[in-house]
Amino acid sequence: MFPVHRIRPRPIIHDIKVARVSPSFASFSPTKMKPALGFLLLPWLAASWAQNVNQLRDQLAAHNITALFKNDAGYSAAATSYNIRYTVEPLAITYPTDIQQISFVVETGAEQKLRVVARSGGHSYIANSLGGKDGALVVDLSRMKRITVDSQTKNAVVEPGNRLGDIALALNAVGRGLPHGRCAYVGIGGHSGFGGWGFASRMWGLTLDNVLSATVVLADGSIVTTSQYSNPELYWGIRGSSASFGIVSSIEFRTFAVPPSGTGFEYLWEMDIPTASHAFAQFQSWALSGSIPQTFGGEIAFMKGSSYGLVEFAFFGAYFGSDESFNNTVSPFFSELPVPNVSANLTSGSWIEVLEYLATGVGPLNTSGQPDIGSDTFYAKSLMTPMDVPLTNASMTAMVKYLAEEGFNSSDFWHVEVELYGGKGSAINQVLLDDTAFAHRNTLFTFQPYASSSNLLPPYPETGFGFVDGIVDSITSNMPRDWEWGAYPNYIEDRLPDWQRRYYGPHYERLKLLKASVDPADRFQFPTSIQES
Ligand SMILES: Cc1cc2nc3c(=O)[nH]c(=O)nc-3n(C[C@H](O)[C@H](O)[C@H](O)COP(=O)(O)OP(=O)(O)OC[C@H]3O[C@@H](n4cnc5c(N)ncnc54)[C@H](O)[C@@H]3O)c2cc1C
Ligand SMILES: *[C@@H]1O[C@H](CO)[C@@H](O)[C@H](O)[C@H]1NC(C)=O
Ligand SMILES: *[C@@H]1O[C@H](CO)[C@@H](O)[C@H](O)[C@H]1NC(C)=O
Ligand SMILES: *[C@@H]1O[C@H](CO)[C@@H](O)[C@H](O)[C@H]1NC(C)=O
Ligand SMILES: *[C@@H]1O[C@H](CO)[C@@H](O)[C@H](O)[C@H]1NC(C)=O
Ligand SMILES: *[C@@H]1O[C@H](CO)[C@@H](O)[C@H](O)[C@H]1NC(C)=O
Ligand SMILES: *[C@@H]1O[C@H](CO)[C@@H](O)[C@H](O)[C@H]1NC(C)=O
Ligand SMILES: *[C@@H]1O[C@H](CO)[C@@H](O)[C@H](O)[C@H]1NC(C)=O
Repeated sequence: MFPVHRIRPRPIIHDIKVARVSPSFASFSPTKMKPALGFLLLPWLAASWAQNVNQLRDQLAAHNITALFKNDAGYSAAATSYNIRYTVEPLAITYPTDIQQISFVVETGAEQKLRVVARSGGHSYIANSLGGKDGALVVDLSRMKRITVDSQTKNAVVEPGNRLGDIALALNAVGRGLPHGRCAYVGIGGHSGFGGWGFASRMWGLTLDNVLSATVVLADGSIVTTSQYSNPELYWGIRGSSASFGIVSSIEFRTFAVPPSGTGFEYLWEMDIPTASHAFAQFQSWALSGSIPQTFGGEIAFMKGSSYGLVEFAFFGAYFGSDESFNNTVSPFFSELPVPNVSANLTSGSWIEVLEYLATGVGPLNTSGQPDIGSDTFYAKSLMTPMDVPLTNASMTAMVKYLAEEGFNSSDFWHVEVELYGGKGSAINQVLLDDTAFAHRNTLFTFQPYASSSNLLPPYPETGFGFVDGIVDSITSNMPRDWEWGAYPNYIEDRLPDWQRRYYGPHYERLKLLKASVDPADRFQFPTSIQES
């Protein structure tokens, strides 16, 4: 789950091992949760919170719900974020095993006016599933892993403790598949709540586009069903911004017959600035040409070159048409590029073999052998570009130059992914803008600039933020001033000044109304949650 692996299905370079560190948590203090009350109330508050903590512990125990509080064995490991740039201390981490238990945890938390958050796979970039800041009540869903597939409809009911790799295996066992990202360890809860892009998305849409219904626990502990027919506004909201409205406790997905075969591919070059700028521009021309079939999914990526003025350039993805037609499909782009001078790799096989090939380096598809792998210390941003205002050559060249020069000088361990969402016929963009809360149905590319500390461990260098900001600026400062770019809420960050507009665009106002109606007391609260006013 390290960045080099994440964008390299066949890591040909080094294999980085990260030691699990136990972060030193800032000591717990009730004032952190209620700073506004001031020091005069502190003695009362401390007593009251202590009592509440004991009461909470007793209530959960009485319902047989496992819970870890500070100082309990296992708490530190359980409170460790995937991005260890964050150290967050939840009030408690609970492990419900069914929907009734989730309901009880939420109701009890709400009574004590706690902030409540769900954790599925725990891969939030900013520790939102630990609350983002101290004092939250975490509902960890990892003990809810059922997956069933209806033999008639082939719809799958998936509990939110599942990871993407395990879901892919379970569905494949009955000849079915879903579109989603290739990191097997990402959880379905966050992934399907905010997007879910993968190499099958141009063919089948985002993960959230295939949510047919869901069971949701609301802030008062009530359990509701949402679908097109039942609580439709909530159904709209959980497909794009789920975490602000409730705890999605079970999800029914539409599934697809797996394609008979596919090809996974990865090509790597080292390029100078003019060559890489040209390659980038050609990738866009190809994407806009209308010639890419839905069965193709892919991206280009940039990494540090071996000397100043060079970048490493990658082109990788999957094609789910016939093996013979793969070369014809990619040749309009490929023929514009030099011969790959780092590596070239291609695998043909079944659907699940292609997923396995693409996941290699980010872990096995079956995650049950290892509960989790890796962690990272990083900052990432996103930039979603509208299809109707293509990138200027100046913007693409500026980014390449920045990466080949500033990027070479940077000691961070970085990469920039440019994922193909659009192009004619892409299923992602065929969904009507207002059908789901996801706000970007006219996207050509989603960029993900990502920089880790050099050894992937804390502390994160202060210069990393500016370096990553500069990648996005190299593009936006070479585009028209009124260019409406977006940001992807699954590559969430907490340093984006106008995040409401960038993540949710025209949907933010409607999300606020939904928030006011289903969670007026703001129990489901974290740094980028929807605010009702
Ligand atoms: C290594 C790696 C690879 C990735 N690759 C891709 C990719 O290829 N494509 C892509 O689109 N994204 C990708 N992502 C981003 C990923 O989709 C998001 O980080 C996602 O939100 C993680 O989901 P999670 O359940 O693991 O995370 P969590 O941290 O558990 O949850 C993320 C957010 O969702 C909320 N949430 C979780 N479960 C529920 C629930 N049941 N009900 C309500 N709210 C819930 C949490 O409270 C939190 O706010 C990747 C991330 C990583 C770290
Ligand atoms: C808790 O578990 C015990 C022992 O299995 C059982 O007797 C009791 O009914 C359970 N309580 C609840 C609330 O589920
Ligand atoms: C690849 O080719 C480029 C020229 O386009 C050259 O600068 C670079 O050194 C080569 N890299 C490798 C690893 O061969
Ligand atoms: C942009 O770059 C591409 C590829 O390098 C080139 O073919 C095209 O003519 C350029 N467009 C402009 C407007 O300069
Ligand atoms: C496609 O091209 C690759 C080289 O890029 C080659 O190895 C492979 O044999 C070709 N496949 C077909 C089916 O032509
Ligand atoms: C391609 O991937 C296969 C399977 O992992 C590996 O054995 C092979 O060495 C790779 N080839 C190249 C040229 O990188
Ligand atoms: C995953 O591996 C475990 C053993 O570690 C096995 O019991 C389980 O059946 C596997 N799951 C799938 C879907 O293959
Ligand atoms: C990168 O570092 C070199 C050597 O210190 C310096 O000459 C060059 O100006 C730096 N480039 C940038 C873009 O900062």
